[in-house]
Amino acid sequence: MEPAESLNHQKARKALVKVREMTIDDLADVFHMGEKLFLADKAPNTYRAWDEYEVADLFYSDTEYCLVAEFEDEIIGFALGTTVSKSRSAWKYGYLLWLGVLPGFQRKGVAEKLFQRFKNLMLQANVRILVVDTEADNLHALGFFREQGFGNPQEHIYLSMNLDQERQRMNLRKKSNGH
Ligand SMILES: CC(C)(COP(=O)(O)OP(=O)(O)OC[C@H]1O[C@@H](n2cnc3c(N)ncnc32)[C@H](O)[C@@H]1OP(=O)(O)O)[C@@H](O)C(=O)NCCC(=O)NCCS
Repeated sequence: MEPAESLNHQKARKALVKVREMTIDDLADVFHMGEKLFLADKAPNTYRAWDEYEVADLFYSDTEYCLVAEFEDEIIGFALGTTVSKSRSAWKYGYLLWLGVLPGFQRKGVAEKLFQRFKNLMLQANVRILVVDTEADNLHALGFFREQGFGNPQEHIYLSMNLDQERQRMNLRKKSNGH
C-alpha cells in the first residue's frame, strides 16, 4: 500500500502526522516539493517567486516560522511564514507565505495541522493580523483558507509593463546619436 493511502483524515488530524520546525536537512525536500506545487507559469506576475533563494532566505531569517509535516519519515508538507512590524504602527502582521502538501496527501488534514501550529506561533509572537494571499483561481487554497477562518478578501490587481520595447527604442536612439 502507498504511504498516502494508509493515511486517512482522522489519523492525520491525530498523531500520525508530525509537525515540527524545519531544519537545514529539509531544505532540498521542501524546495523540490514547492517546485511541483507552485508552477512558475501559473503565477508569472506575483511579487514572490518560488526558488532556492526564497526557501533559503526564509529559512535563515524566520527559522521558527518554517514548519514541515512528516509522515513515516517523509516530508509531506510545509508552511513558511514571517512577521512584519510596520513603523509608526503598534500592529504586528503575520504572513503565511507558502503552504503546500504533497498531492497524494491532500484532503487528509495535513495543511490544517501545519496551519494550527503556525497560528499558535503567531499568537505567541503577539501578531494581531494574519495575512495570506493566493491567486483568485486557486480554489483549493481559497477553500482551505476560508475553512480556517480567513475572511475579508481584498482585491489586489497586478498590472504589468513590458520594458523590452522601450529598451530597444532607447538602444536605437543611442545608435543613431552615435553613442
Ligand atoms: C491548499 C492546500 C495546502 C490544502 O492542503 P490539504 O492538506 O489538502 O488541506 P486539509 O486537508 O488540511 O483541508 C482542511 C479543510 O480545508 C478545506 N479544503 C482543503 N482543500 C480544499 C479544496 N481543494 N477545496 C475546497 N476546500 C478545501 C476543506 O474544508 C478541508 O476539510 P475537509 O477535507 O474535511 O473538507 C493544498 O491543496 C496544496 O498544497 N495546494 C497547492 C499549493 C497551494 O496552492 N498553496 C496555497 C497558497 S501558498
